Amino acid sequence: MSETENKPLLDVENLTVRFEVSRGGSWGKRSYLYAVDDVSFTVKRGETLAVVGESGSGKTTTALAVARLVPAYEGAVKVGGTDILGLEGEALRKARQRVQFIFQDPYSSLNPRQRAEAIVREPLDSLSTKSEAEKQEIVDRLFAAVGLRKEQQRLFPHQFSGGQRQRIGIARALATQPELIICDEPVSALDVAVQAQILNLLRRLQAEFGLTYLFISHDLGVVQHMCDSIAVMYMGKVVEHADRLSLFNNPLHPYTAALLSAVPSVDRARREATRRILIPGDPPDPVNMPKGCRFASRCPVAEARCRESAPDLRDVGGGHRVACHLVDERAVSPLAALT
Ligand SMILES: Nc1ncnc2c1ncn2[C@@H]1O[C@H](COP(=O)(O)OP(=O)(O)OP(=O)(O)O)[C@@H](O)[C@H]1O
Ligand code: SF4
Ligand SMILES: [Mg+2]
Repeated sequence: MSETENKPLLDVENLTVRFEVSRGGSWGKRSYLYAVDDVSFTVKRGETLAVVGESGSGKTTTALAVARLVPAYEGAVKVGGTDILGLEGEALRKARQRVQFIFQDPYSSLNPRQRAEAIVREPLDSLSTKSEAEKQEIVDRLFAAVGLRKEQQRLFPHQFSGGQRQRIGIARALATQPELIICDEPVSALDVAVQAQILNLLRRLQAEFGLTYLFISHDLGVVQHMCDSIAVMYMGKVVEHADRLSLFNNPLHPYTAALLSAVPSVDRARREATRRILIPGDPPDPVNMPKGCRFASRCPVAEARCRESAPDLRDVGGGHRVACHLVDERAVSPLAALT
């Protein structure tokens, strides 16, 4: 394996995104919601990192910030070693060709008044300097690559099924020959049977074009066949990050264990050995986070120290990172004591 293959393609360092929010009554006082709070992770070239977590955990905001579709407040997003957050002009245009986005809703993300061929060609028109004939050839190849017929190029988005619309979104994302594709819940809006087809297509394209994926999903079941490693987010923080097998076989953070116990299709032996862990209680106010562990209000094993200080995300061996005071160097889940 060459040196470039070993290096991460994407290196996100201390990424923080905050939104100013108005809270009634506090005249002149600014409040901020830290949707992404000091998040770091890497994705190796040709691999898939899944980012999972409940609604509101900051997955989409992380994805948008990596693609520079929302501004980061702090941190770095390095693609192939270059921090793209500081780029402008021609350098930014080049960087935009390397990173593309597939959106959750294949209908609202496609312009209803544009024909499919124009939608797929659009990134080439704005980001590349190719001739008309070259662009048409690329569009033809992309339609074939995602399993659409040439005559469908003339149709409008409403003339396609949901799965076909997502194929158009994927073709559009591939147009500039990107290295990194960010998929934000790419199959959540689709029927289960169609979900499998689109996931298979994404995997095939990854192998064919050597793509690297940042794959966002609220559903661990969807990502289990789709990723090399997984980062679990809770309230703007990564609480656990490990390779897929370590995370599925030895979830260490109580929140990860609860998420996993709710996945119906994870292997049967595990399902029979573990009961479903419910996470009652409310998450904290995102504008007024507690000083201690953000999961403490819902954690079945929380202790006094959990409310006093926030646990750091630390490596407990083999690159398995977890942010929990009760996980020690033996890398045993604190929930093991309960069962
Ligand atoms: N433009 C914005 N202005 C203010 N707050 C925002 C904005 N975008 C997101 N947020 C807030 O940031 C937090 C994270 O939102 P985000 O959409 O990233 O979560 P998510 O994990 O993608 O959730 P979902 O699973 O529902 O898509 C939420 O509290 C959300 O309300
Ligand atoms: S630090 Fe404490 S509250 Fe947070 S997950 Fe671990 S045990 Fe639960
Ligand atoms: Mg989202």
